[in-house]
Amino acid sequence: MEERRQRYLVTSALPYANGPLHVGQIVGAYLPADAFVRYLRTRGEDVVYVCGTDDHGVPITLRAEREGKDPKEVVNYWWAHMNETFGRLGISFDNFSQTSTEVHARNTQLFYRKLKEGGYISEAESQQMYSPSEGRFLPDRYVEGTCPVCGYKEARGDQCDNCGSWYEAYELIEPHSKVTGGPVEVRETTHLYLNLPQFSDRLRKYINGQEHWRSSVKNFILGIIDSGLEKRPITRDISWGVPVPEPGFEDKRFYVWFDACIGYVSSTAEWAEKLGEPDRWREYWQEPGTKMFHFLAKDNTVFHTTMWPAQLMGVGEDGEEPFILPYDVPANEFMNLEVVVDGERRAMQMSTSRNLAVWVHEALDRFPADPLRFYLASNLPETGDVVFSWRDFQIRVNSDLIGNLGNYINRVLSFVEKYFEGELPRPESLSEEASEVFADFKALEARFEQRMMAPRPRDALGELLAMGRRANRFFDAAAPWKTRKENPEQTRADLYACCVLLGSIAYHMVPYVPNAVERLQSFFPGPISRISDLDGLPNEYRVKGAKPLFKRIEDPEVADAEERLAKAATG
Ligand code: MF3
Ligand code: ZN
Repeated sequence: MEERRQRYLVTSALPYANGPLHVGQIVGAYLPADAFVRYLRTRGEDVVYVCGTDDHGVPITLRAEREGKDPKEVVNYWWAHMNETFGRLGISFDNFSQTSTEVHARNTQLFYRKLKEGGYISEAESQQMYSPSEGRFLPDRYVEGTCPVCGYKEARGDQCDNCGSWYEAYELIEPHSKVTGGPVEVRETTHLYLNLPQFSDRLRKYINGQEHWRSSVKNFILGIIDSGLEKRPITRDISWGVPVPEPGFEDKRFYVWFDACIGYVSSTAEWAEKLGEPDRWREYWQEPGTKMFHFLAKDNTVFHTTMWPAQLMGVGEDGEEPFILPYDVPANEFMNLEVVVDGERRAMQMSTSRNLAVWVHEALDRFPADPLRFYLASNLPETGDVVFSWRDFQIRVNSDLIGNLGNYINRVLSFVEKYFEGELPRPESLSEEASEVFADFKALEARFEQRMMAPRPRDALGELLAMGRRANRFFDAAAPWKTRKENPEQTRADLYACCVLLGSIAYHMVPYVPNAVERLQSFFPGPISRISDLDGLPNEYRVKGAKPLFKRIEDPEVADAEERLAKAATG
């Protein structure tokens, strides 16, 4: 019956190392991946889950300059901050790396060299804004001026916030540096380009072949390819980034989106290195048969489905470094925030600069990880934008996590401990009702699996709640508090059946509330298993020292959390 284990490589988008994590990021790329990975591990699959910080790019250098620090200092600080927050939330990366490492620079340069050998790189001149007083070229985000369309005075380098027009930075009237305020001018500069159009046919074929992708994602990308890909600049006139191994490019660095996804490879290589098997990463990246999943928020989809597969195709072409392509790119929509101002509830867009966000480390100071994970998982933006609401958090936790699942677990365990000394040997026979509930559970387990593998952990959670309701119904109908006196053997058999259900419920809780399941196992060792996987019924169940797994969320706690957001919204 030995089935061959499937090999998985799962990634979450690399967060920019320039600030604390907020819940919008968590529901986009981290919690869905973590739930999926925990399920795969529980199923006994071979899975490696990697991530790391995205240390390059304008968001980093802007912060470093604002704080008068070296970019490396900034990214190291935020790497540690994020690493701790992910740990507290129970995001179970096998490795959490950084893109500012030596290994990563070498990997990026290897990708570049292979792409160049394949004939996919070209050089071209372009016009860019130059700041004579600072002696450097400025990225668009560093330039400000008067909008050429509407005359707005503080228009950004690439787009006007007043009228929404897009233009080239050199079209701005009286352009100046955002950093010094000094005037900037147009100069010629040379950059390297990745010739994406050379990959159009292969990309179209690859994406067309992905039967299992969300159709929204697939159609969107096919549309982009059909409307014509353009060659993309892969270098920038900046000093923070991966050095370009090309004479004449000493003062330039690779563009952050050229190296970012390669960070997945580097993180896997670092994982293998730490394991003491430095070549192990190749199993996951270079042997056919790996299913690779990139979890991300929708604003990262285009890069992961055009430029990134093109890079992988190009680097593997000569057969020396044959990389696999992503199996799926589950993209999530966005999360907004419910803010209560003067008793009125409204949905607002998160704004990290206005501190109008639910920071994960702060939320974890208020509440344990499990209830937060549970609420966020029940509210993942799998099919459309969602709203984070502290009141909904309270309702979902108190009624679903505690009222449904926790309640079932408590009722069963306290009964077994109180009236049966915590011991239930396998009964001679089970009631018809027990066989029925087992059959229903097997169907629910199959539905859970199908949804989780889609991968849609939010939908799967709905099946777990259905298991909880079904199990509670069985307990109510069995009415052990009544039968206990008249027919203790029957009660014992029913409670044994309840424990079989509990084992399945706990198994399916692992992706969402892993800490609770761990605590549960200390007083209910199980087996924790799907009913479909049980090889005959267990000899016995034991319970010792059971305690409630969750604490209710109280009104004042919610009011306090809401007030913090209201202050940010009005202040
Ligand atoms: N740092 C990017 C962002 O936060 C995401 C990069 S995903 C990567 O939008 F895989 F390319 F790194
Ligand atoms: Zn304008």
